Amino acid sequence: MKSAEIRESFLSFFESKGCRRMPSSSLVPDDPSLLLTSAGMVQFKPVFLGLRDIGTTRATTVQKCVRTTDIDIIGTTNRHHSFFEMLGNFSFGDYFKSEACAWAYEYSTEVLGFDLDRLWFSIYEDDDEAETIWRDEVGVPADHIVRMGAKDNFWSAGPTGPCGPCSELYYDQGPDVGCGSADCAPGCDCDRFLEYWNLVFMQYDRAEDGTLTPLPKQNIDTGMGLERVATIMQGVGGNFETDILRSIMSVAEQITGASYGRSEKVDISLRILADHARSVTFLIADGVLPSNEGRGYVLRRLLRRAVRHGRLLGVEDVFLGRIIDRVVELMGEAYPEIVEHHDLVGRIVESEEQRFGQTLKQGLVFLEDAIEKTKSTASAVLDGHFAFTLHDTFGFPLELTSEIAAEAGLLVDADAFDVEMKAQRERGRAAVKDESWNTFGNAFAAIMAEAGEIDFVGYERDAADARIAGIFVDGEVVQQLEAGQTGEVILTATPFYGEQGGQVGDTGEISASDGRFVVADTRIPAPGVIAHHGTLQEGALAVGDAVHAAIDVGRRERIRRNHTATHILHWALRLVLGEHVRQGGSFVAPDRLRFDFTHFEAVDAQQLEKIQRLVNAKIMENHPVRNYETSLVAAKEMGVTALFGEKYGKIVRVLEVGNFSKELCGGTHVGRSSEIGLLRIVSEGSVGANVRRIEAVTSFDAVESVYAEEAVLVEAASTLKCRPQEVADKAALLVRRLKDAENALADAKKRGVGDSMADVIASAADVGYPLIVARVEAADGGELRGVADALREKLTGGAVVLAAEVGGSVLLLAAGSDAAVGEGFDAGRIIKEIAPKVKGGGGGTPSMAQAGGKDPIGIDDALESARVLLGMK
Ligand code: ALA
Repeated sequence: MKSAEIRESFLSFFESKGCRRMPSSSLVPDDPSLLLTSAGMVQFKPVFLGLRDIGTTRATTVQKCVRTTDIDIIGTTNRHHSFFEMLGNFSFGDYFKSEACAWAYEYSTEVLGFDLDRLWFSIYEDDDEAETIWRDEVGVPADHIVRMGAKDNFWSAGPTGPCGPCSELYYDQGPDVGCGSADCAPGCDCDRFLEYWNLVFMQYDRAEDGTLTPLPKQNIDTGMGLERVATIMQGVGGNFETDILRSIMSVAEQITGASYGRSEKVDISLRILADHARSVTFLIADGVLPSNEGRGYVLRRLLRRAVRHGRLLGVEDVFLGRIIDRVVELMGEAYPEIVEHHDLVGRIVESEEQRFGQTLKQGLVFLEDAIEKTKSTASAVLDGHFAFTLHDTFGFPLELTSEIAAEAGLLVDADAFDVEMKAQRERGRAAVKDESWNTFGNAFAAIMAEAGEIDFVGYERDAADARIAGIFVDGEVVQQLEAGQTGEVILTATPFYGEQGGQVGDTGEISASDGRFVVADTRIPAPGVIAHHGTLQEGALAVGDAVHAAIDVGRRERIRRNHTATHILHWALRLVLGEHVRQGGSFVAPDRLRFDFTHFEAVDAQQLEKIQRLVNAKIMENHPVRNYETSLVAAKEMGVTALFGEKYGKIVRVLEVGNFSKELCGGTHVGRSSEIGLLRIVSEGSVGANVRRIEAVTSFDAVESVYAEEAVLVEAASTLKCRPQEVADKAALLVRRLKDAENALADAKKRGVGDSMADVIASAADVGYPLIVARVEAADGGELRGVADALREKLTGGAVVLAAEVGGSVLLLAAGSDAAVGEGFDAGRIIKEIAPKVKGGGGGTPSMAQAGGKDPIGIDDALESARVLLGMK
């Protein structure tokens, strides 16, 4: 059976058991606790937890998965991968252990045709029920059932969430394949007993502290490794020899000229290329871009590891794209997303490959040197600081350095590396730390306990009446604020927005019957706490006082316009650049907005214009902007854009602009898009690998920027003496004229030199060889040599003695052909003889000599001597 046939047979078998066939979910999980989708159950986590109903209690999938916990092993074995396909069947409180076991057995023996003698079954050490089912219900021989501990037979997708005991099916590939040890059995590290299917009896939810709570219902989660089953079905020596992976390796063989199966070292590299090409293709197609963090870093590591193994096999050029083409060819039918994003994948891989390819060579030289030095000191540990320098300067992931060091038998001091890494992060953080803001320690807890929840009314109102719940000065709790003092005030209710989600905090005034506190900034120093930072201008304020809090309305209005504009910009970016664009960060201030997003190349002028036009069209179409609360689950079902990796509460705010933009957002916004007035992009640039930044202005600031540019145009028009509309044509015309004039001047100069050259050539005399002795024009020594070369070209077998005045001093040059030298011409001697006449000195060989002199008045005299010495006179 080919891989495609195995996929289909699995899905239809489980469809016949009432499971709904569902598509693979993205490799980027909709779950902040997971970096990547590493199992079929990931998309069903909320269903297992009873949080979501998908309208069926039985499902079956073929899920694309990436796991990199074993990345060091990948390549060294024939059964580990970073990318693999998991065939799964799932029960959400429906069928349980008996059916899961019986159907796994039925599919294995009847559809795949596995021989019962070859099958082994592991169960969790305490799970008597599983043993009874396998032995008594399914009819498996008792001596093929083995008990194992939690490490092998208790499964969870991560540190928290649904989990449970499991039972695994093993296929005995026979004694020839294994380690040969007498106690070789399922669970042994060798290849003999191939674990191909894991049945998880999902019964618990594990909390952060490790406690297990029974789930509302008992579930089934199973995962069968497609590559492993293909190995058995295709009767090959291992996963990399199955249809898909073998074919990918063939391209790698063609590119590198290496052959699989001859040397272990080469095989490792070929397997790595085939495996990593798959993970890289699927990750990028699912929107991951190379970066230094999170899943982007996983991708970068895979890419860089692949590039290095290409180099190990002797490929110097960009090559990964060709392997990726084969991946798309072989797997595109089952996963159309890689066909759709083929072009994008190719471009990103090429750019990353080029970038890293350039520094790899240099970095390797350094690394090899350090390895040699370390070895010569008989140490087995490579300096972690050095590993950091490699990371920082040459982009070597620590893992790559470790891997190369390991090949030379060395370990890397990862602790020292971490120390450096941390120090660098601290430096980065310190650079952006705002010193003026106080930290409040735990003082909040007490104040919040007393004041209760702060009522934020800023979505609806610009002012509110409230009481003072707490006051801080220099981070200390105080009861009262005196005139002139600066500190932070906490209110029971407030219209002030605390800096959050990129939107800056509000400013304004908090006034009491006797006191006026001017708010310079508002922040959220701890969840649920809104702190107003400012100075008491007059009077006094005390905890418990009744106050009136009012924000600076004009400023907030401008912030609102910029914030809604950011959402529209995000929408336009995705439309013009592609769906891979994701928000990285944003900054929304009254006078400008900034939007960072993932994209792998500069946005060109045409694209920027298109983006700007789209945004302005949406502004003018006057779309309503709606803002409401809903549950996170409902918001996601509506397809609302959320930031990856961001933790959201169960209740979220959704911001909708017209019907084209829906994002989770807690910020403040305009009521209709036309309030934004106008958006102008003022800059676009890079702020890191694959992260771009757009800065823009809106409303009055946008109009101001139009006025400012108009003023420049009017001034240019007046200088050029034309109308503003004609500036471009007029400037082009002037530039053209200037060019023409420059060319004409250059031509005239050339002709001038040409004329005198002709005179000089005409002055040649025969002294047994053609000889020219002349004064010429030259700007420097190089030009003089050029003139000499040009003259000698005209005089076959001749010689020249030249002098030129350059900026008040003299250059002399004599040069002779072999024939002239044969006739007695000696450039070195002539120069020596005549140089004193120009108050200079120099020399050279018989065929070429030069001198510099201080006295141009002596030039004629010097040349005259040369003529005499060389028998011209
Ligand atoms: N979720 C289980 C696994 O990944 C089936 O092994």
